[in-house]
Amino acid sequence: MANHLLLFVLIALPSVIYADKLLAVAACQRGGNYGTGTIKEVRITPCPEAAQRRPCILKKGTNVTIEVDFEPTVGATTVTGRAFWANRMLELPLPNMNTNACATMNCPLRPNVAQTYTYNLPVSRGFPTRRYDVRWKLTAAPFNMCFQFPIQILN
Ligand SMILES: *[C@@H]1O[C@H](CO)[C@@H](O)[C@H](O)[C@H]1NC(C)=O
Repeated sequence: MANHLLLFVLIALPSVIYADKLLAVAACQRGGNYGTGTIKEVRITPCPEAAQRRPCILKKGTNVTIEVDFEPTVGATTVTGRAFWANRMLELPLPNMNTNACATMNCPLRPNVAQTYTYNLPVSRGFPTRRYDVRWKLTAAPFNMCFQFPIQILN
């Protein structure tokens, strides 16, 4: 058990070192909260732009990792994770996502127990080259959380 923990720490360490803490995370509704959860930190790796509070630049053909530390206020057994390109008018779901959020979390979620949701996102060449808000939703009934952050897709 201790050996497994040590191995986990050694493997996890590089991503911690290179992770860039995202500061420009907002609730999905203006003036709203994130839902039935409290977001502690969102990390996008790589995103050196986060240090200057600028939108993360996602280069096509690379992978970015999104990690969200949060604490749910209610429990949930199965949780769905979905990302959308969003603006004031519409939400376009990101295609071909693995929507099983429990794949990277300790499900079931328990109230007031910290969780980290991780998603490895391949930046497809098909993504339009421009600036967007990405809206991320974690849902289960009655658990739900929604947050968004700006990104810039580049070739
Ligand atoms: C991105 O991640 C996938 C696995 O999710 C892997 O197959 C692929 O090689 C990675 N691409 C790059 C550029 O690292």
